[in-house]
Amino acid sequence: MAAKNTDAHASASNSSITDSEAWQQLKAHFQQNRTLHMRDLFASNPERFHQFHIRLGDILLDYSKNRITDETRRLLIELAKTAGVESWRDKMFAGEHVNLTEDRAVMHVALRNRSQQAMYVDGLDVMPEIRQVLQKMRVFSDAVRSGEARGYNGGRIKSIINIGIGGSDLGPMVVCESMKPYAQRGLNAYFVSNADATHLQETLKQVEPESTLFVISSKSFTTQETMLNADSAKAWFLDLVGSEKAVARHFVAVTNNTEAAEDFGISADNIYQIWDWVGGRYSLWSAIGLPIALYLGMDHFEELLEGAHAMDQHFKTAPLEENMPVIMALLGVWYNNFFDAQSHAVMPYSQYLRRLPAYLQQLDMESNGKTIDREGERVDYLTGPIIWGEPGTNGQHAFFQLLHQGTKPVPADFLVPCISQNPMGNHHRVLVANCFAQTRALMHGKTTSEALDQLREEGVPDDEINTLFAHKVFDGNKPSNTLLFEKLTPKTLGSILALYEHKVFVQGVIWNINSFDQMGVEYGKELAGDIQGELSHREETHSYDSSTNALINYRKGIYYHQQDNNNYDKKS
Ligand code: F6P
Repeated sequence: MAAKNTDAHASASNSSITDSEAWQQLKAHFQQNRTLHMRDLFASNPERFHQFHIRLGDILLDYSKNRITDETRRLLIELAKTAGVESWRDKMFAGEHVNLTEDRAVMHVALRNRSQQAMYVDGLDVMPEIRQVLQKMRVFSDAVRSGEARGYNGGRIKSIINIGIGGSDLGPMVVCESMKPYAQRGLNAYFVSNADATHLQETLKQVEPESTLFVISSKSFTTQETMLNADSAKAWFLDLVGSEKAVARHFVAVTNNTEAAEDFGISADNIYQIWDWVGGRYSLWSAIGLPIALYLGMDHFEELLEGAHAMDQHFKTAPLEENMPVIMALLGVWYNNFFDAQSHAVMPYSQYLRRLPAYLQQLDMESNGKTIDREGERVDYLTGPIIWGEPGTNGQHAFFQLLHQGTKPVPADFLVPCISQNPMGNHHRVLVANCFAQTRALMHGKTTSEALDQLREEGVPDDEINTLFAHKVFDGNKPSNTLLFEKLTPKTLGSILALYEHKVFVQGVIWNINSFDQMGVEYGKELAGDIQGELSHREETHSYDSSTNALINYRKGIYYHQQDNNNYDKKS
């Protein structure tokens, strides 16, 4: 383990958060109020929405449909204070090494700092370097978009293929997917991440080498899947074009490992720098966002940064009780640790946001899927939830049944724009109505008497009512947040993504874990290397457990049998 930064560490001795008075009070409060029904809370307080909402710019967070009272909020805020949320936040913004295990600063907020203020990492103002890279991105993306930078044969670039994985894929991918209305006509963006060659092959089928620009995105430039895809893409290109010289016009890299990118054959001019204080899943704001700049234009990329910066300022300055990321984080802790909710759902009522849940899965689960606290001790409470979701209204016809009548509590976020980018007939009204109807139904439920009345009104005979009515009852009291915003613009999207980043950060602080490493991912990678070795020869494998041995040997049997058949066919 790398040396711990003692400064950042000293004031954070909240490893026994469950022993704190704030936690104990919340526990008692939970016991006393666990049966409160939101239906009654709304009925008894017409001001409930006013009490439990926050506005920032055009974004409205309605968190009134949660199983909380004023007192719950007060106690949760106390918990945040006890855990040192404000001081950890300030340390992060000040460039302290809050990534304790890797002894690094966590400064993605500097990447979208739109003020003139300096931001320091290890005593160095990082803003000049950030601005330099942004400028380099602008020059290049402008040139590609205007047709000034062309392919090796003088034709325009029409396709951008990002090759990366994890944060070097999901961030730029979710933005490009969500911001399609802002894309330049005639320019397509593709994202290739999977080691399965199908991903690359199916993408390559859609493009021509002479009009394709590959962006090899990898902070480390060593990630197996990315290097595999990058090598295969280059081989495909060379095979069709036949000129090494042409590579310079068609391959650029975004990395912290310039040497490896140069070894790959990318010239220094075509390498865009990211820094070690940018975590993979927090990197879309850096040059990892190059595909965004290319696809949407640098002005739109900068609007995205502005939206994130606005959320950063809010997170930094708003009192905790009016602080969107803090409130969302605390609600998550409330359900995770007191109601034992195992998961958290995200339901974008926007087709453009269809990949948001996938992006949030990495952001949240790679950050807070931890069992060891900042002091190296095993935690005795639940940490990060399972994040999942699908766009509404599709989810309604798939898994919403479980949300409404299942046995598991699933707190959920609903995101919906007031205005559609694609107005068409009644579509958007239907979409929005469904979103609001779901959160209302989840909260309110349907009582026994309401179910009985409805069945009677429908003229269902009494004997049928007796067998049916229990199935028609909805308990309700299912919590949700609604994020309602004017329109899905780059600025709004920037704010939303930063909102979730800070939410995850706050939860990590409360759970006393390091949200910025991902050591759990490493073990699988190590083993994959060994198993790859085993798969590359015909001898039977015995070195693992019987299951792993059997799987390896089964695949070898089929694979080598097919190889032999192919060889036989070729010979005959
Ligand atoms: O999955 C582990 C991980 O390290 C992520 O955190 C990161 O986003 C991804 O791999 C890709 O890493 P790189 O950008 O170095 O290729």
